[in-house]
Amino acid sequence: MGWFSFFLASLTIVLSVSQANSHYQPPNTKQFLACFETYLSSNESVITPGNASYTSLLNLHIHNKRFKTQNTPKPVAIVLVRSESHVQATVRCARSNGIQVRIRSGGHDYEGLSYVSDVPFVIVDMFPLSIVNVDVGTGNAYVQAGATVGQIYYEIAQQSKVHAFPAGVCLSLGAGGHFSGGGYGNLMRKYGLSVDNIIDANMVDANGTFLNRKSMGEDVFWAIRGGGGASFGVITSWTIKLVPVPPQVTVFKVKKSVKADATGVVYRWQEVAPKLDRDLFIRVEPEVVNGTVIVSFIGQYLGPVERLIPLVNGVFPELALNRSDCTVMPWVNSTLFWADFPIGTPIQALLPTSREPPTIYSKGKSDYVKTPIPKEGIKKIWDFMTKYNNIWMQWNPYGGRMGEISPSATPFPHRAGNLFLIQYFVFWKEDGPEAYNRFMNYSRSFYEFMTPFVSRSPREAFLNYRDIDVGAKHASNSTSLKDASLYGTKFFKENFDRLVKVKTMIDPDNFFTYEQSIPPNSG
Ligand SMILES: Cc1cc2nc3c(=O)[nH]c(=O)nc-3n(C[C@H](O)[C@H](O)[C@H](O)COP(=O)(O)OP(=O)(O)OC[C@H]3O[C@@H](n4cnc5c(N)ncnc54)[C@H](O)[C@@H]3O)c2cc1C
Ligand SMILES: *[C@@H]1O[C@H](CO)[C@@H](O)[C@H](O)[C@H]1NC(C)=O
Ligand SMILES: *[C@@H]1O[C@H](CO)[C@@H](O)[C@H](O)[C@H]1NC(C)=O
Ligand SMILES: *[C@@H]1O[C@H](CO)[C@@H](O)[C@H](O)[C@H]1NC(C)=O
Ligand SMILES: *[C@@H]1O[C@H](CO)[C@@H](O)[C@H](O)[C@H]1NC(C)=O
Ligand SMILES: *[C@@H]1O[C@H](CO)[C@@H](O)[C@H](O)[C@H]1NC(C)=O
Ligand SMILES: *[C@@H]1O[C@H](CO)[C@@H](O)[C@H](O)[C@H]1NC(C)=O
Ligand SMILES: *[C@@H]1O[C@H](CO)[C@@H](O)[C@H](O)[C@H]1NC(C)=O
Ligand SMILES: *[C@@H]1O[C@H](CO)[C@@H](O)[C@H](O)[C@H]1NC(C)=O
Repeated sequence: MGWFSFFLASLTIVLSVSQANSHYQPPNTKQFLACFETYLSSNESVITPGNASYTSLLNLHIHNKRFKTQNTPKPVAIVLVRSESHVQATVRCARSNGIQVRIRSGGHDYEGLSYVSDVPFVIVDMFPLSIVNVDVGTGNAYVQAGATVGQIYYEIAQQSKVHAFPAGVCLSLGAGGHFSGGGYGNLMRKYGLSVDNIIDANMVDANGTFLNRKSMGEDVFWAIRGGGGASFGVITSWTIKLVPVPPQVTVFKVKKSVKADATGVVYRWQEVAPKLDRDLFIRVEPEVVNGTVIVSFIGQYLGPVERLIPLVNGVFPELALNRSDCTVMPWVNSTLFWADFPIGTPIQALLPTSREPPTIYSKGKSDYVKTPIPKEGIKKIWDFMTKYNNIWMQWNPYGGRMGEISPSATPFPHRAGNLFLIQYFVFWKEDGPEAYNRFMNYSRSFYEFMTPFVSRSPREAFLNYRDIDVGAKHASNSTSLKDASLYGTKFFKENFDRLVKVKTMIDPDNFFTYEQSIPPNSG
């Protein structure tokens, strides 16, 4: 089945479900609400479609216009989670009334899986649960699921200039989804992923029971650190271990056009970047500007510029890093630099602000590269990119600490042996099915074109760069173990089997289910 007919088929299912509900229990919304009220003696956290705030609350954490259309299925209710008991009541009442739960923290899921479903569903919206308590005495922080990474960086800086946490670059990512899917950022080569630095968690399971690391047990605690939280329960908070950074770090951005031998420098980068001193992280970001490829080399060094320049010029002279490309700043300011704020921006910009509605449609994908792409290949990649202006990529170097952590230490399996992770990001502004099909096709064709350069058997993918195409040979239906193993082995490799065991233990009835969830072994 071609992609277009696959899309039509999925659309038909979605429409028939939302309009006719032919295959599913009708949503027992009234009973759900009554049940919720019985548990908590109040229903004021439950927002139903009749409420004037329903649409703005639903849209508040939708970041991709693909999932903000009239035909996008809508929840029977949104629960604004202000305490753990709201989660417990939602889980118990949804379960007893045959309503699915979708869990949303930052809402950045590339496929909207945290707020769209093709069966009747409620959203547990975690964003109001956003306390961050930093304790530099113990070196730990307590972080609720709805906190954003920007907020975490800000609160750390209120207490200390020499503590940090390894997590993502986009400041509005939610701790709930971002950490449970792995979580990486520019401290990865020094300290690993977010999940490599988490020491406790609180979670509500399918029975509505509130658990911590001790009561959930080490298997479940292992699974939610990279296996995707939403297969196992609703994570309400994490305890994270802060990491040391120097009082000042050095950042830089160097741009190379193809005319200035971007191809040669990128070729060299593949060999150098994964072997660099682990205090140094250099990301490559190719984009199309006015029909030609410009490559940004964006770097961060956990040390002074005086050491950085000779270090880079010694092993990577092709970059021609100049002192004038570099800025020295406290680590917390560097998180704003990475998020593309101008140098000098006050750190209040890290805190969540009221956001504009999404203006673009987008499709993300990912790949792992284990052997350098030949120069000829890189040239062809630039050619493919310039077919449209609407793509950028991020190439993130591995190595350092990433290569030392065992692939089975957490469900995230992509450790030693990887040179870098590619993120593909195709975006467009035009409304309508013609543009939709053209750009979705472009994203998928690009991915096909990249096949010879990337990992195979399996072709690995990063869970946090959610891509519904991964392993979706037949249908987006995760109830069958066989179908689930198609994406499961790409996201988790050998860890998939253990994830299924954990799922079978903690949620044997598969209450927490979505298009790419881990199914229980019911056989
Ligand atoms: C602009 C942008 C930049 C990004 N940059 C990075 C990056 O630098 N590094 C990186 O690793 N990733 C990055 N990502 C990917 C990001 O980590 C994932 O999209 C992540 O899932 C987002 O988490 P969220 O809570 O914001 O999203 P949500 O959409 O709320 O959730 C994502 C998934 O997690 C589940 N989930 C959410 N909250 C909970 C919870 N409390 N308990 C259980 N399950 C939950 C959801 O149901 C869904 O399946 C980026 C994404 C975007 C859009
Ligand atoms: C909440 O409860 C009140 C009182 O029982 C009821 O009138 C109201 O309709 C309920 N609200 C919702 C959203 O169900
Ligand atoms: C909408 O929800 C808010 C918050 O719970 C509540 O105060 C308000 O009364 C609701 N309005 C309607 C019309 O249900
Ligand atoms: C791209 O082209 C436009 C219009 O010609 C021009 O204004 C702009 O400066 C160009 N951008 C770059 C980065 O060259
Ligand atoms: C670094 O940049 C400065 C200012 O642009 C320039 O004068 C100098 O020649 C450059 N140095 C090198 C080594 O390229
Ligand atoms: C760092 O943040 C502080 C506090 O907001 C701000 O005053 C300063 O200008 C920033 N420095 C840089 C180099 O961005
Ligand atoms: C994209 O469209 C082209 C031309 O219609 C078609 O040949 C190709 O198979 C499509 N690719 C994908 C991945 O759908
Ligand atoms: C999902 O798969 C199961 C088992 O293969 C099947 O019974 C069910 O109808 C499928 N559901 C959808 C929505 O395709
Ligand atoms: C959930 O409750 C059921 C029924 O009380 C019990 O059998 C099961 O063990 C519980 N599940 C978990 C994971 O505690």
